[in-house]
Amino acid sequence: MSARVLDGVAIAAEIKEEVGREVRSLAEAGAVPGLTVVLVGSDPASEIYVRSKVKSSAELGIASNLITLGVDTSQAELLGILQQLNEDDAVDGILVQLPLPRHIDTRAILEAVDPLKDVDGFHPVNVGRLTIGQESLVPCTPAGVMQVLQRSGIAVRGRDCVMVGRSDIVGKPMSTLLLNAGATVAVCHKETRDLREYTRRAEILVVATGVPGLITPDMVAEGAVLIDVGINRLDRREDVERLFPGNAAKLAAFDKRGSVLVGDFAPQSYLRSSAYTPVPGGVGALTIAMLMHNTVKAARMRRS
Ligand code: GUN
Repeated sequence: MSARVLDGVAIAAEIKEEVGREVRSLAEAGAVPGLTVVLVGSDPASEIYVRSKVKSSAELGIASNLITLGVDTSQAELLGILQQLNEDDAVDGILVQLPLPRHIDTRAILEAVDPLKDVDGFHPVNVGRLTIGQESLVPCTPAGVMQVLQRSGIAVRGRDCVMVGRSDIVGKPMSTLLLNAGATVAVCHKETRDLREYTRRAEILVVATGVPGLITPDMVAEGAVLIDVGINRLDRREDVERLFPGNAAKLAAFDKRGSVLVGDFAPQSYLRSSAYTPVPGGVGALTIAMLMHNTVKAARMRRS
């Protein structure tokens, strides 16, 4: 049986279309949703992410705004800006791009965002609401994975799911969403003694570790659904050769661009699956679509 490719780009486009319709209906009622993204410093990867967040939201008609602050911005200054944004009625969603410079206490910043405007779903109030299954703003990447599963007709209830990775941004909220949807969930991480013993049992295997090619075919059950949240840039030819043995197209792509993007699954793992999200073209596209979704949800929540 050949594996089904779960096309994240197509699903993200579907969601954006729906969100765009909601934005238009809010705008017609005189309430254009507003999103402000705050970037502190000039981390090149963060700069790319925030630009694409702002651009995508503007395309849907969201009033989007980027605040860029110098790397030396103090915690007090940042807290002051967040207070202004919390009080600004035109701002429905606030996103502070992570990571923050080391002199800033990330927790203090995330807690300073009004939970009703917390489109990242990182505030403890939203984390707590998610944990007890209440309506909340849900972190974008795990929410996007749930959309991929639902819109691809992949049932979660009663299934054995394994989450590899325990980050606050992906692993923990992802495992909570799967648990809330009725799955049996194991959460594995760096300290897990025999990772393979867990992953081989998974009917749905979600991996978010940032370790390229961590999950090899021997770690995957025949027919499993594989969700790859990793986006890793390989910039050494020998790494590309090791992960994609005999794959001329990948090597040609590397030779052209000097790097290629790979996930946390070794590509040969896909051959054992019934369905998988590719990298690129899988979960990555969903993160921004769900940010737009959360912005509209925040606008509706604040106005209801
Ligand atoms: N940095 C990496 N991923 C994310 C995310 O989802 N939200 C924020 N705010 N920062 C990030």
